[in-house]
Amino acid sequence: MLAKGLLVSFPTETVYGLGAAADNPEALQRLYAAKGRPTQHPVIVHLHSIDQLPLWAAEVPPAAMRLAEALWPGPLTLILKKAAHVSTAITGGQDTIGLRIPNHPVALDLLKKFNSGVAAPSANKFGRLSPTTAEDVAHEFADEVEIVLDGGPCEVGIESTIVDLSGATPRILRPGMILPEQIRAISGTTYGYGIEDATTPRVPGGLASHYAPRTPVELVESMQLMEKLTQLKSTGTAVCVLSFSAAVESGIPWAVAAKDPATYARTLYKNLRNLDRQNCALILVEQVPESDEWEGIADRLKRAACPSDGR
Ligand code: TXA
Ligand code: MG
Repeated sequence: MLAKGLLVSFPTETVYGLGAAADNPEALQRLYAAKGRPTQHPVIVHLHSIDQLPLWAAEVPPAAMRLAEALWPGPLTLILKKAAHVSTAITGGQDTIGLRIPNHPVALDLLKKFNSGVAAPSANKFGRLSPTTAEDVAHEFADEVEIVLDGGPCEVGIESTIVDLSGATPRILRPGMILPEQIRAISGTTYGYGIEDATTPRVPGGLASHYAPRTPVELVESMQLMEKLTQLKSTGTAVCVLSFSAAVESGIPWAVAAKDPATYARTLYKNLRNLDRQNCALILVEQVPESDEWEGIADRLKRAACPSDGR
């Protein structure tokens, strides 16, 4: 199906991807149309072996090679200078390319058999929550996707950490479950984070509002949760909650979040999807701790909470 230019959704350890042959312009057009994604936003090309890197990247700096060898297959995407023949249709018109070897047996099997790059953004409509089960994908794409390979629920649950090693200043473009400290230690390089200037590559995850449920999301400090609930109750606002504590009020749809970041991340999108189905006016989410291990999660929550016109 990939060879025919059709769309194949497959599981990865982070989220489900919507795959298309990366060197087939028609397949890419189909991919962008299905996602509703503006063409200037680049997609990640998925590979199965480090040996394929020279086919897609013009140069692989030593720091990038160290990260690839230590962390692939895994939830890490490297941004490198693209090889000359690579179409700018997958790079959003830029001269860099995003590359990743995912750590999931079904994905690796597919990539080995296809034996060429598979362009795969997360299998959700532009700006919405990423899918972490095959059912999530099937709900969102009824006709556009040829087949959804079911590999069970994703282990990591939020998208890969993106590290840009294409320019003079190495940058972490999107935090994830591979932490800055780990990246620094392995690559022996220091990183800028959140530094934006004219050379910052464009990332949809970098748009203020992204990864959002339809119901508005509001983040609230732990100490303020009860007060906020009382206040909303007095105005008759239908609210649901994602909190570290057990439900304090009956009648409020309430998801209890895990206290460790790995489990929290694994269940984050499922929790938000479930709450989104409750027909409430607001999803209240208790703030997560401010530390490196929570940074990827805090980033997704912040973007889910940012108002957008797309609701
Ligand atoms: O975990 C993941 O990364 C998942 C799974 C399916 O692999 N994929 C994913 O793809 O999250 P997507 O398209 O939803 O997000 C990919 C991110 C986007 O923010 C995109 O802008 C960025 O990677 N990206 C891709 N190529 C890039 C490039 N050349 N320069 C800068 N950012 C790039
Ligand atoms: Mg995405």
